[in-house]
Amino acid sequence: MASLAAKFSSSLERAGSNEGWTGSTSDLACSSRNDVVNVYPKMGRSRLSFTCEENTDMSSPDRRRFLQQAASAGMAWGVSSVFGGSFLCAQTSPPNTSDIVRVYVDSRRVIAPLDRNLFGSFLEHLGRAIYEGIYDPGSKLSDANGFRKDVISEIRQMEVPIIRYPGGNFVSGYNWLDGVGPKESRPRVLDKAWDSINTNQFGTNEFMAWCKVVGTQPLMGLNLGTGTPEEAAALVEYCNLDQGTKWSDLRRKHGIAEPYKVKNWCLGNEMDGPWQIGHMTATEYGMKAQDAARQMRYVDPSLQLIACGSSGPFMPTYLEWDREVLEQCYDYVDGLSLHRYFTNAPADTGGDTSKFLAMNLSMEQQIAETVAVCDLVRGHKRSPKQLWLSFDEWNVWYRARSGDAANGHHQEAPHLLEEVYNLEDALLVGGLVNSLLRKANRVKVACLAQLINVIAPISTNANGLLRQTIYYPYDWALQYARGSVLNLLVESPTYEVVKMGQVPYVDVAGTFNPEDGKVGIFVLNRDLSKPHVLEINWQDKAPGQVLVSNVLTGTDLKAFNTFESPQHVAPQAFAKPSTNGGRSKFEVPARSYTVIQWSA
Ligand code: AHR
Repeated sequence: MASLAAKFSSSLERAGSNEGWTGSTSDLACSSRNDVVNVYPKMGRSRLSFTCEENTDMSSPDRRRFLQQAASAGMAWGVSSVFGGSFLCAQTSPPNTSDIVRVYVDSRRVIAPLDRNLFGSFLEHLGRAIYEGIYDPGSKLSDANGFRKDVISEIRQMEVPIIRYPGGNFVSGYNWLDGVGPKESRPRVLDKAWDSINTNQFGTNEFMAWCKVVGTQPLMGLNLGTGTPEEAAALVEYCNLDQGTKWSDLRRKHGIAEPYKVKNWCLGNEMDGPWQIGHMTATEYGMKAQDAARQMRYVDPSLQLIACGSSGPFMPTYLEWDREVLEQCYDYVDGLSLHRYFTNAPADTGGDTSKFLAMNLSMEQQIAETVAVCDLVRGHKRSPKQLWLSFDEWNVWYRARSGDAANGHHQEAPHLLEEVYNLEDALLVGGLVNSLLRKANRVKVACLAQLINVIAPISTNANGLLRQTIYYPYDWALQYARGSVLNLLVESPTYEVVKMGQVPYVDVAGTFNPEDGKVGIFVLNRDLSKPHVLEINWQDKAPGQVLVSNVLTGTDLKAFNTFESPQHVAPQAFAKPSTNGGRSKFEVPARSYTVIQWSA
């Protein structure tokens, strides 16, 4: 008689619930076919459901691996569409048996103009992102508005172009009216997404004021969980209409005469996830998004609207969700969202850094797959419109993800999701920057999730702020990726990664700014033991002098920064390469991410 085994059937009830479930498939008690066995991870209200089925073709170890992967919400891989076969490397990479990495640059050969919104970020009402992060009226470091001055000056000098707000999972239970008007009348509300108290002392108008001070644009999230399309349209009216209507006049009554003219809006958050407040089917969500889009455009036809795509390839509904949603609302939206969090947990990569550092190629595959679905629906609809993608949550995240790290226990500003980033995380973030650059023809908005304290490049305490390791590759993208993304030809030696195939040791992306002639080159060396020599071949014109040359590297991949030792992992000056006969030659160290900027 065939044996019974538990097979992953559906749901994760909450994002961030991926870690710490105890037991493997063989531990699950299957007594008869179609039994449903629930597994409760360490974190509060999460549940994984397994259905007992006859053992068929999957060998036990494979099945266990699949289940473990499926159990990893937000993990970097997990379904066959990601690692199902040999992996097509995103870098142009003909076989290279030479040790030298050859890069061919031609400023006439570009992928796309770079939309600076590709390097946006995200602030959610979560943990200490808003309260104690950017807004801390009791702090000696705050201004008269309660905004942290040190954070303002950091974000201003980074020139973060766009910031998503107010969530995230939070937004799906948020009533924006609670956060406007006289502060003393605003209610203390239990945020059910993160079990935290929101005092509502910071709301839409405070966020708009903060955006103005730091010089960024808002990417406003709308509640399409408990919220209605009518409430979404009311918020647009509150923000964008001048006067003479119920909601624009309310804004004026609240002391804001000028409308904000917010352009970009997210129609909900991760509505495919069973953990999401107000989760619904793809068709239901697609129809709600369509209704919201129509009502919002009646108020302001100039809006750019982003529908919720899949929360990641780990979802059982990955891509099918996107297709069904777009069948309902393709004609009404401009972009589709993607999310992804990468992990180097032993259960996912075996803690193998060389595998972890290849994961940015999996991001590229996710983008390519999502683009394919958008274009499929476009074909069905015979639409002249091409959608763009909003990769509005991406980062490394796998340690502070469950238990007390994700449960606010009804506190104000609890310490949630305060991930401490090490060198290898920063190297992957560099790789992810390179991948986003290479996909800039379709990804027009992307948000490093998040910005302050919560899975963030910047942490604050009562006395100041700290740059975490991942700050540096993100900041370099903001400073030096300008103009158009170059379509580089890169020849690199490769190494084998299981289920990915051959992965280039060296990953290179670059930009060329036609306005000032500057070139920026970004190099990830995934080789953990060896430096690699790069030869840049300037095919149309050789550049001028090296303006910037920095490298992030070290011998300890697990090294991280603390308030006591803030420079433990920090960029080092890198020898400026010289250019002779149309070629620049230099060596990048093992385990490194390097940026070089040349003048015209
Ligand atoms: O960024 C943290 C959380 O991750 C967001 O609230 C949610 O959208 C995602 O699951």
